[in-house]
Amino acid sequence: MKRVIVLGANGQLGKTIKDFEKFEAIKFSFFSRNEIDITDINSLTKNFKDADFDLCINCAAYTNVEAAERNVAEAFLINAEGVKNIAEVCNSYKVKLIHISTDYVFDGKKGKPYTTTDHTNPINQYGKSKLQGELYIQEKLKEHYIIRASWLYSLHGKNFLKTIISKIESEATLNITTEEEGTPTSCIDLVTFILYIIKVDNLPYGIYNFSAKGSTTWYGFAKEIAKNYKLGNSDKILPTDKYKTQAKRPKFSVLNLNKTEEFYKELRTWEESVGVVVKGYKISRS
Ligand SMILES: NC(=O)c1ccc[n+]([C@@H]2O[C@H](COP(=O)([O-])OP(=O)(O)OC[C@H]3O[C@@H](n4cnc5c(N)ncnc54)[C@H](OP(=O)(O)O)[C@@H]3O)[C@@H](O)[C@H]2O)c1
Repeated sequence: MKRVIVLGANGQLGKTIKDFEKFEAIKFSFFSRNEIDITDINSLTKNFKDADFDLCINCAAYTNVEAAERNVAEAFLINAEGVKNIAEVCNSYKVKLIHISTDYVFDGKKGKPYTTTDHTNPINQYGKSKLQGELYIQEKLKEHYIIRASWLYSLHGKNFLKTIISKIESEATLNITTEEEGTPTSCIDLVTFILYIIKVDNLPYGIYNFSAKGSTTWYGFAKEIAKNYKLGNSDKILPTDKYKTQAKRPKFSVLNLNKTEEFYKELRTWEESVGVVVKGYKISRS
């Protein structure tokens, strides 16, 4: 049975992996930030030393895009230096790494879906710190999978889908931006792809894009959530092109999925996946 360590296990992606644990013939060891801080190489080393892991899934990251503009050093400490620590320890103990990166490594000016070899040019501190993490992995560890994911949501933690549902419940009127185009991606779908990588065990190393199929704006995403949640009642969700944020965001960050689809045939449309997760939300509340 493969032995897999999961770092950052208390985030939404880590918790979604935990949801799958009971269905998989994989021996997972989950570590939250309190148990392993990735910025502390000694704590990583201590836990890798005698454990004989086959793979590491890194879900740990500084993910607050807005706060990263103010806390640049902390974002880089976690997303770049912390990731470098992981790559070094994986290299020392012969552990393969599955690391999650982001569509925010791109500037959004291409206007067509980004391939894994397109030029990166992040326009905010979060994207810059995540790109530096990718570069460290490529420098330190051959046996890696860097998965660039976009617009993640799930039933865990804080995310756009859960925020929209709570606003719908409070009957608030929402002005949601139409200024960015990308692809909402369910953590369930991403975890299914991660498990596929672990199980096939022969995917070529390197960078993979992962999202659902298709694209929309945050406004379109909110309308779809509302449509599924309240069966058509989305009158209080209004489009705006005046939403101000501190961090610049790529106007277009749709990922080209051709490379992923050469190997992996299970991609769903973003609308299908929103339907699945909203249904799960309703069941969890009933
Ligand atoms: N969310 C998105 O829309 C999105 C989109 C594209 C890519 N991604 C990437 O996908 C991955 C998973 O994201 P997510 O949405 O699951 O994020 P999340 O819910 O914010 O989870 C991140 C986890 O990392 C932990 N963490 C932070 N600093 C740490 C450290 N120094 N050592 C160990 N753990 C640490 C956090 O712990 P605390 O909560 O205790 O701080 C949190 O549990 C990340 O790499 C992210 O960059 C996310």
